[in-house]
Amino acid sequence: MTSSYDRQEQSALQDYQRIAMAPLEEAESLPFSAYRSQSAYELEAETVFRNEWVFVVAEQELPNCGDYFAITLAGEPIAVIRGQDNEIRALSNVCRHRGTPLLDEGFGKVEKHIVCPYHAWAYKDNGELKAAPLPGDINIDKDQHCLPTFFIESWHGLLFVNLSSNPEPLAKRLAGIDDYLGYFNLPSFENGFKSTTEYWNANWKLAMENAMESYHLFKVHKQTLETVTPTKQAYYIAGHSEWTLTGGKMLDTSSKLMKWFRGDYPEAYDHYVLISLPPSFVGILTYEGLSWIQVLPIDKDHSYIRSAGISSYSGKHENKTEQAFTEAFFAEDKDICERVHKGMYSTLAKGGKLVSMERILVDFHQFLGSRLFESNVSDFFQSPEAERFIGKNTDSSEGE
Ligand code: FES
Ligand SMILES: [Fe+2]
Repeated sequence: MTSSYDRQEQSALQDYQRIAMAPLEEAESLPFSAYRSQSAYELEAETVFRNEWVFVVAEQELPNCGDYFAITLAGEPIAVIRGQDNEIRALSNVCRHRGTPLLDEGFGKVEKHIVCPYHAWAYKDNGELKAAPLPGDINIDKDQHCLPTFFIESWHGLLFVNLSSNPEPLAKRLAGIDDYLGYFNLPSFENGFKSTTEYWNANWKLAMENAMESYHLFKVHKQTLETVTPTKQAYYIAGHSEWTLTGGKMLDTSSKLMKWFRGDYPEAYDHYVLISLPPSFVGILTYEGLSWIQVLPIDKDHSYIRSAGISSYSGKHENKTEQAFTEAFFAEDKDICERVHKGMYSTLAKGGKLVSMERILVDFHQFLGSRLFESNVSDFFQSPEAERFIGKNTDSSEGE
């Protein structure tokens, strides 16, 4: 017999599927149950965070050999390390002896070896086991005790990790996006700047949706962002389920003298481009740099939020006013997201229409719909329906 909890969870998934896969003209807010259902969360963890390219950290944030960034991705502890050979790898951050997480989460430096805090097994920064102390007469086969590595790929220095065993190249997912970014000099952004981490009491999708849409600027950020990047001057550029670009005009607050120094420059530089790469990256690209917020779920009710960026200035350049401004609008976003999260627990209220300015949310919903509810292509080839198009599958090398 199915319990009422099971029935609720089942209908949460059905509603989620219906809205996430709706066409643009029928776009609505996701059903609130999609933000509070445990089954929805588990499905997202499995089909998105453990199976998709997920932004983790930028190369520019790990400038020296030994620099690492460790994080838990859908329950999986990983460490992205720039090794002594200057190569960046994504390693499992769990000791092969008895499972202790090795490096502390966040940024750090591996001095010589990665040493487990429990019994001091030591690994090289490429994951090889170097030594296990006091083995007695037990022979530990080092090759059998390496740290597994995960797929990692870079786009303009942004590093994406994929925990699945056979991912499609990241470039395929991002195909076409660079065509729109020609005015901006991404390769010149060689310096990572200060990273701040926060924990929000909100479902990760709320934080992502909030980071993507500019509809709320005039209300939530009246004194902050709205004064520089007004809601009414924001527009959709291009996008689909895999990535979306929106843009907006930045009000020019520089002095006459500054303008004179700067001379002629393309009009594009007065605009920002907001780059959304679901599930975890939303960045604002300007002439001077790319700053982002990274969103990762901790569980269905809590999110890990990290803001950071890269630019052509060295990290020393830190402007107090800019910092206060960023902190102010982040606090505004945190407040509103946590407030909305409470609303998601209503079982009687329903979500409504999305307005034209929220078109980017439709792209995000379609990303979710495609990952959560559509069988992927390789499954399709194994399915009876496929026979109609390609005949009987006689190939013995299945899954290739
Ligand atoms: S658990 Fe790591 S050395 Fe024992
Ligand atoms: Fe905001």
